[in-house]
Amino acid sequence: MEFKAITDPKARHGSACAVVGVYENGDLGIGARHVEAQIGGVLSKLHASGDFSGKLGDTLVLPHLRGGAAARVLLVGLGARARFGRKPYRKALQAAAAALAKTGAADAVLYLALEEVEEVDLLHRARAIAEVFSSHFYRIPDLKSAAAPKPPALDLVSVAADDARGAKAVADGLRFGQAIASGMALTRDLGNLPPNVCTPTYLGNRAQRLAKEWPSIKTKVLDHAAIKALKMGAFLAVTQGSEQPPRLIVCEYRGGRKNSAPICLVGKGITFDAGGISLKDPPGMDEMKFDMGGAAAVLGALRAVAELALPINVVAIVPTCENMPSGKAVKPADIVTTLSGQTVEILNTDAEGRLILCDAITYSRRFKPAAVVDVATLTGACIIALGNHFSGLMSNDEGLAHELETAGVRADDRAWRLPVGEEYADQLKSNFADFANVGGREGGACTAASFLWKFAKDLKWAHLDVAGTAWLSGAQKGSTGRPVPLLVDFLIKRAHAA
Ligand code: BES
Ligand code: MN
Ligand code: ZN
Repeated sequence: MEFKAITDPKARHGSACAVVGVYENGDLGIGARHVEAQIGGVLSKLHASGDFSGKLGDTLVLPHLRGGAAARVLLVGLGARARFGRKPYRKALQAAAAALAKTGAADAVLYLALEEVEEVDLLHRARAIAEVFSSHFYRIPDLKSAAAPKPPALDLVSVAADDARGAKAVADGLRFGQAIASGMALTRDLGNLPPNVCTPTYLGNRAQRLAKEWPSIKTKVLDHAAIKALKMGAFLAVTQGSEQPPRLIVCEYRGGRKNSAPICLVGKGITFDAGGISLKDPPGMDEMKFDMGGAAAVLGALRAVAELALPINVVAIVPTCENMPSGKAVKPADIVTTLSGQTVEILNTDAEGRLILCDAITYSRRFKPAAVVDVATLTGACIIALGNHFSGLMSNDEGLAHELETAGVRADDRAWRLPVGEEYADQLKSNFADFANVGGREGGACTAASFLWKFAKDLKWAHLDVAGTAWLSGAQKGSTGRPVPLLVDFLIKRAHAA
């Protein structure tokens, strides 16, 4: 789908659909004024008859119009004008995308970015359009034998602005939104692929391809021998029960000054988490193919950064392997030496994410990073704490935590701060090693983060637990692409502050 910013009314002539907002009580949005002449008194009649009241998310297509700029007008309910903020705006966009997809319109002019939205400027209003529309048209990689349903006709979305200055903001916003959406699509594809396809080897190859597609990215993929030579004892323990060889993927994007310290993004890449010897219960185990959601998100974010050519340095680090039971698998009570030299007693082999991440965080030190952000589907406990709405956010640095939290707000991809540190780390006591990999049921998301915290001393570090947000279950089962929007927003801000 292509997006463009327009101002010249002539450019809109002959469009297949004009999309305009209507507030509650038939109160016309700014955009609706542009088509007032065409739809004339229809709107007040619709309101009087109760057929369209402008309730948030309601839509109505007025087809077969004559004598105007568009062949159809799509009315989109915006709800109460006084409450038109970030969330209702998104909801209206989602409704508009869904309604447009059902029409045969191949192109549309959107007037929705013209509406005032509390705390959201024009650039971000346009960015949301590209994100929401692209996401709505995302399709899961097709592995069904029946012919795929015909995709919607829509392939050009023009977003109207008032003047040239507005058009510049809209164009920038659309560019950001498209890059975020492309990054999310990559993340979602990787998550949705079955685990017999999306193996550690596959992820490594995909990362190599990313470097071919974007010359600003350099990818290095380390195999088992190289990981062993590095002495990543915790990572090696997790992979040892699997027939699939592990990979350590390192993608460097250099868009900033040569000597400016990079941001390291570390993503958990468990391509299937059976739990190992501490085997999981069968129900829902299929969803553990999504346990590489963190890896997929950091690769997706890097793709977006490259597409936007952001003036910043970013390194994505992905430890990836399976967590399987076998005669060779790591056992409860085994003790391993991590890359940092600290020893860990593995009491539960299902707490494997922290084991591969601790070595990857230690590895990130060689880049002398300005900050390290790890992204992981780390704990079921985080889902209990926050549900599917917020990612968990833990950090040893107030400034970094604040940056990520506000990025999540701007990107509509929110994270909620949770505690981390000594109190929770104390729960990881072991009689036999420096510490254990589990700390009991209480505060499970916080003890997991505090395990990582022990490896992040003297780094500016943050952890995003995306166990509840990286994918949806049930009828909607599938990868969400989160937290790509949060990460990219954070990096855009960092790049432009630098
Ligand atoms: N990948 C899981 C976390 C998870 C579970 C994410 C369910 C989403 C849904 C992780 O590796 C895991 O198994 N964590 C354990 C930790 C426990 C053994 C301390 C958990 O959360 O149960
Ligand atoms: Mn696990
Ligand atoms: Zn896991």
